[in-house]
Amino acid sequence: MFKPKAVKSPAAMPRHVAIVMDGNGRWAKKRFLPRLAGHRQGYESLRRMVELCLQRGIAVLTVFAFSSENWKRPVEEVSGLMDLLVKGLMREVPKLGEQGVRMEFPGERQGLSELVRSSLEQARAQTAHNDKLVLNICFNYGGRWDIVQAAQQLALRGEAITEDSLSGALSLAHVPDPDLVIRTGGEQRISNFLLWQSAYSEFFFSDKLWPDFDAAEFDRALACYAGRERRFGLISEQLAASSDAA
Ligand code: IPE
Ligand code: IPE
Ligand code: MG
Repeated sequence: MFKPKAVKSPAAMPRHVAIVMDGNGRWAKKRFLPRLAGHRQGYESLRRMVELCLQRGIAVLTVFAFSSENWKRPVEEVSGLMDLLVKGLMREVPKLGEQGVRMEFPGERQGLSELVRSSLEQARAQTAHNDKLVLNICFNYGGRWDIVQAAQQLALRGEAITEDSLSGALSLAHVPDPDLVIRTGGEQRISNFLLWQSAYSEFFFSDKLWPDFDAAEFDRALACYAGRERRFGLISEQLAASSDAA
């Protein structure tokens, strides 16, 4: 399992950034547009964010695109989101592949249509060899689902449940825990995102609606992160001593 090192470096860049991309509906409503227009604009914002992460040398970007609870939304919105995912992947995967992006889709497959499942599988297979940026698109994902499915896997295999074994069975076992979790849209809650993995993440809440989240606001989040002291339960003096020794 990935073990975080307790360090404070003023120039520290997060290796793994996770984002709750919230505020698409309100963005559309402000413009008297249908909610789906907001989701389309949100998709553009995600494209921009991938470029920014590649430029800034961030190794992992994890985004929350559809939660286990989002099924309860109006049926046209749910089907519009599925359509946006399938068409977006068709359009983007070749270019993302060229840019060295590996795509993964943490989330429950059950409940997704055959078309959505096969699009996810194809995108994953076509980009599996890439290593510049891991892009995790959490789709039909919930932090509680993830912990339960991991525990079920271990129980089925008759394995002991420890922090390491459970971490290894989670849907984000292929990446270290997020260093920085950003939520846009002004709400300050986790909404069933990375419940286990965000145990020691730094949080940044932005009032910008996701379609308006741009390079300047991302850099503000990164600057804010760089100024934080991550203590992982220790005290400041211990961190200073361990960085002197390093
Ligand atoms: C986030 O934007 C995207 C998804 C949940 C799919 P919202 O659709 O939640 O936007 P608001 O919160 O209603 O503005
Ligand atoms: C969280 O946003 C889920 C995604 C961004 C995909 P929601 O808009 O669904 O969260 P709540 O309902 O405001 O907590
Ligand atoms: Mg929302």
